[in-house]
Amino acid sequence: MTELISNVTGPSAAVNAAAIAGNPRPKSKPHGPLRRLLHRSIHFFAYHLVLARRNTRITRAAGFRLSVRPTVFHPRYFLSSEYFADFISRLDLRGRHVIDVGTGSGILALAAARAGAEYVVAADINPNAALTAAENARANGLADHVRALCSNLLSAVAPRPLFDVILSSPPKHAGEPRDLADRGWHAGPDYRDIAALFDQARERLKPDGRVYVMVSSDSNLDLLSRLMDRAGFRAQIALERSIYIESFIIYELLAAQPAATTSSIRAINSAESGPASAAATHSASSRRFLTPSTTVSTPSDSA
Ligand SMILES: C[S@@+](CC[C@H](N)C(=O)[O-])C[C@H]1O[C@@H](n2cnc3c(N)ncnc32)[C@H](O)[C@@H]1O
Repeated sequence: MTELISNVTGPSAAVNAAAIAGNPRPKSKPHGPLRRLLHRSIHFFAYHLVLARRNTRITRAAGFRLSVRPTVFHPRYFLSSEYFADFISRLDLRGRHVIDVGTGSGILALAAARAGAEYVVAADINPNAALTAAENARANGLADHVRALCSNLLSAVAPRPLFDVILSSPPKHAGEPRDLADRGWHAGPDYRDIAALFDQARERLKPDGRVYVMVSSDSNLDLLSRLMDRAGFRAQIALERSIYIESFIIYELLAAQPAATTSSIRAINSAESGPASAAATHSASSRRFLTPSTTVSTPSDSA
């Protein structure tokens, strides 16, 4: 596979070169009482002011005009969405087959389509999110490239063809979600709701494909690392961005095979010293990922 990261440069792309060079992944830091209190307060306001709102909002984020239905993760108030969309905009996805797991408003799926992906599946367990992502793809002229569906992780996605790139910005915190809207924030005790993400991603990824997953420095990084390892991935930090109270981290995961890893390291290293000249040569394919019956349908196995 040719290098995907064609131009990760600029002040917003704080690529953590030490981690990419093979240093250990960050460890979870134990949270003291003050930190826990801060987090409970942030969640209280985020939940009552944003997540649990009852009206549809129109917003602009990452260059898209997006409508955001009730219960759907708001891509403007929560900074992680635009940071990840910005990262995706720097990937060369021409001709790639991509899935965005936990798509919310669809912002990351739209960013992947804008970056040249031939076909993007926008999947979410929240049916309002699947509807919203479909609407937003249409409104932004990307409906030919984006198909939304309601799915618990990848369970409602056809097993073949495999994906070149799997994107996910899952809920960052463990703990029981209060309701559907809160599933954008909480993933259940011990990340119950997303624990199978990495195993499923490994099964659906082309041998030379890659996964980009965003977590937070406040996530249980030890547990998430174990889940990635168990699925047979090697993880590297592709981007880390601090918002002072926490950092957002994008891991690049590759199947544990040396050949796939080196091209990615080369791409990121060359991007640090200036724009890389990576050009995707993947041939276009007209194969569809989904059968019509799975599009925006409610999964039978959703929690
Ligand atoms: C942090 S939000 C990210 C939304 C969007 N990707 C963004 O960046 O703005 C996490 C999303 O994952 C979805 N989600 C949570 N558990 C899921 C599961 N088991 N399967 C699919 N989606 C899930 C939530 O509904 C929510 O839309």
